[in-house]
Amino acid sequence: MITRIEIDGFKSFLDFALDVPPFLAVIGRNASGKSNLLDALVFAAAVARGDRLLDAVVSARGDATSLFHRRADGTVVDRMRFALEFSLSREDLDARSPEEDAGYFPTSWRYEVELRLVPQPRREVLRVVSEVFSPFGSPRFPENGRRFPPPAVQVATRSRDHLLIPDRERQVGEYEDNYLDWVPGSICAEELNSVMVLRLEPTELARPSPLGHEVTLSPVGAGLAGYLQGIVEATVSEDHPEGVLPLIKARLTRLVREVTDFDLVTDPHRGDVRLRFASRHHTGFEADQASDGTLRILAVLAALYDPRRRGLLAVEEPENGVFPERLRDLIEITRQEVHDRDWLRSWRAPNDEAGAQVLVTSHSPVLLDVVPRDEIVLLDNATRVGGGVAPSAVTRPRRLAAVGEVPQRDASGVPVVAEAELERFRVAARGA
Ligand SMILES: Nc1ncnc2c1ncn2[C@@H]1O[C@H](COP(=O)(O)OP(=O)(O)OP(=O)(O)O)[C@@H](O)[C@H]1O
Ligand SMILES: [Mg+2]
Repeated sequence: MITRIEIDGFKSFLDFALDVPPFLAVIGRNASGKSNLLDALVFAAAVARGDRLLDAVVSARGDATSLFHRRADGTVVDRMRFALEFSLSREDLDARSPEEDAGYFPTSWRYEVELRLVPQPRREVLRVVSEVFSPFGSPRFPENGRRFPPPAVQVATRSRDHLLIPDRERQVGEYEDNYLDWVPGSICAEELNSVMVLRLEPTELARPSPLGHEVTLSPVGAGLAGYLQGIVEATVSEDHPEGVLPLIKARLTRLVREVTDFDLVTDPHRGDVRLRFASRHHTGFEADQASDGTLRILAVLAALYDPRRRGLLAVEEPENGVFPERLRDLIEITRQEVHDRDWLRSWRAPNDEAGAQVLVTSHSPVLLDVVPRDEIVLLDNATRVGGGVAPSAVTRPRRLAAVGEVPQRDASGVPVVAEAELERFRVAARGA
């Protein structure tokens, strides 16, 4: 699980740090940095996985220069830094290590990376200038002569533009003698591979998916029918002829009462698979006639109930197209599934305890009614001055005061959000 994200010098973030519990709602007004946070997550995960930097930049909705933090006078910072902290499950670490090494690895790991624009003969090129992957919070480590972190991830990678969390086969080969050193890195790499950020668009969700190859759900929701088909194929068994699909159907029909059922219809002539819904009021309809909210809710449920997925699911503005009462139910279901993964046991190996993690960004005051205060963070803008540079507008995360707590300042001096301020947010969000 990703437990902390630090961002410095990317878009609206300077010295930004956010602890990430298993469920987190990030709320804030327009331009408070909610989308930038998801961009930073997508970008940092892509860099950490070793995607081409060009692809990482595109996935963060920018070009290499626009990603760097810009101050009020238009000047730009000269570096971006990110840190991601991971908490790995003891069971997972032990299951992948030889028996005699059970308990050997620390569970807390931290990945740090710094990027700069490096002058080249004709233009500046974005480069990773250093990265480190190392355990933290484990005083007894290292103690038995092993080199930690593994040499390939310790280095400053001046000449490379990809990164080194060690799941790359080539590198595993290079360090074969020391293969154990790669266990935490490969778990983190899996975690990063499965980060899913959804910014759903109904027209994309409604499209049929081509048959014949595995379909993943794209960030905008393309491939939903094929993705659901893949989930069914991965979970089908004698006891569960439709796999986990009945659970998804039960949740969808509970949330969208108008819909009574849906099916995945394979059409070999057209070479595609498409969604077909059954309704209380008429015989049936295809995805392009389904409501936006129905498709969005179904996509979130599919990602939530895909037992192959592990790691962080981030959903941008789940309230879009969803009636407030239904949003409340969707968030409640999501929180419940994050905190209690019992249903998963039927579809996973007995010792697979991989947790789920969900982050939602939202304007909706509904979240204040269903999510406990310690699972919400409010983003707003503050002006940063000093350091001999021009002032900057920066995104800052603010914790919400617990019920009955006298709101003060947190450890970094940021005021905690008081109940009266939340009330103003509620009223403003309702447009009153
Ligand atoms: N490179 C940059 N440097 C500084 N600030 C930036 C940079 N890029 C974007 N921003 C600022 O980020 C803000 C937009 O943030 P973002 O898109 O995350 O808002 P949001 O909270 O998602 O808002 P909405 O609710 O409207 O979607 C803008 O005010 C913009 O000035
Ligand atoms: Mg936004």
